[in-house]
Amino acid sequence: MADATKSATLTYDGTTYQLPVLTPSVGPEVIDIRKLYAQSGMFTYDPGFTSTAACDSTITYIDGEAGHLLHRGYPIEQLAMQSHYLEVCFLLLYGHLPKADELEMFESTITRHTMIHEQMHYFFRGFRRDSHPMATMVGVVGAMSAFYHDSTDVGDDRQREVASHRLIAKMPTIAAMAYKYSIGQPFVYPRNDLDYASNFLHMCFSVPAEQYQVNPILARAMDRILTLHADHEQNASTSTVRLASSSGANPFACIAAGIACLWGPAHGGANQACLEMLREIGTVDRIPEFIARAKDKNDPFRLMGFGHRVYKNFDPRAKVMKQSADEVLELLGVHNNPTLQVAKELERIALEDPYFIEKKLYPNVDFYSGIILDAMGFPTSMFTPIFAMARTVGWISQWKEQLADPQLKIGRPRQLYLGDVARDYVDIEKR
Ligand code: CMC
Repeated sequence: MADATKSATLTYDGTTYQLPVLTPSVGPEVIDIRKLYAQSGMFTYDPGFTSTAACDSTITYIDGEAGHLLHRGYPIEQLAMQSHYLEVCFLLLYGHLPKADELEMFESTITRHTMIHEQMHYFFRGFRRDSHPMATMVGVVGAMSAFYHDSTDVGDDRQREVASHRLIAKMPTIAAMAYKYSIGQPFVYPRNDLDYASNFLHMCFSVPAEQYQVNPILARAMDRILTLHADHEQNASTSTVRLASSSGANPFACIAAGIACLWGPAHGGANQACLEMLREIGTVDRIPEFIARAKDKNDPFRLMGFGHRVYKNFDPRAKVMKQSADEVLELLGVHNNPTLQVAKELERIALEDPYFIEKKLYPNVDFYSGIILDAMGFPTSMFTPIFAMARTVGWISQWKEQLADPQLKIGRPRQLYLGDVARDYVDIEKR
């Protein structure tokens, strides 16, 4: 926790309160209101947490005005282009870039935890075949607490470590199994000779009937998608994980809560919603109609893949994703992809439109990711599970950081109560 060297003054009803001001290593200063209620009897009001820092953290920093994203200080563009997903996982979890032997050890540990308890296969079979893979994942990840009792004690450092490794390692297996189950194909076991992204593609696309060769271009593109989604500081699902964990809940239950939150279309569900929207638009000439709908106050329609609570500039992940979409389609020999054409033209028109300029609405990470995943052969229902798989390391890193904080308290927001004041119960015949 930063030490306060400055303070702010709040005067209300003739009384003045001194509030410490905390200085971050970079970013806006933070007014410390922890003692405000005790001193003044007043709460602060901030639904949606638009002006509230709920914790301190050293993991990820976003400058929304400039469009910068740093993990442990390293820019996301450098990590996406020069590093790879498991190295970024190590960085997020442990705070530094691994030396060669550290990386080798970490990769080997993750690779050797990829299989899931065999009995969990029967658990999958309880779901309807047409379940959305996210529905299956919420259930199966939560159920891990019933299968891995030896890593649910959050007070034990070693158990926390094992739970972290298990979650990062098993999430691709669970996501791939949810997919295979939804299309009626047999589950495919992980292969330890493949890297993380290639293994995931293998588990999704190989079938027992024939040899499957992982395309290295697609594996690299998948790895980049995972890297770009790895963490994003205190977003809705991460805050959900932190809140669930603040009560001492076990890590599998906390991550299941994060998956549930991620599923919503305003958050991780936007990648599925975005590709479906681009397909619905279909052709470039229909774009003005959709732009008009997005601007219409009486129409709930929003341009999916546009806008962000923190970025008031280009989402730096969207830039890399756009470049990646171009590369993947080119390398796969997919020319004149109609969805990509609609996406590019929609972006161009929206960025010139006063409504979007005024509200600082730019494409976010989900705008182009669906195009790449679609070209790889994934159905839209798998887009959010892939996001969940990638974000698991972010959730786990933030969970781990929170549990190590000696000041950890159960998360317990207060409210502005606007309901009835105390009144007497009325017997049913007198109502
Ligand atoms: N299309 C049209 N108008 C929009 C959009 C959009 N995509 N996004 C925001 N606005 C308008 C909104 O109507 C509001 O207008 P007004 O001030 O006139 O009421 C203004 O911009 C501010 O919007 P907000 O809803 O108050 O902003 P927020 O910070 O609460 O919401 C958001 C952020 C991401 C939920 C929102 O921009 C949105 O719904 N975008 C579409 C869904 C999406 O792409 N989500 C993925 C986010 S990135 C990945 C992730 O986090 O998982």
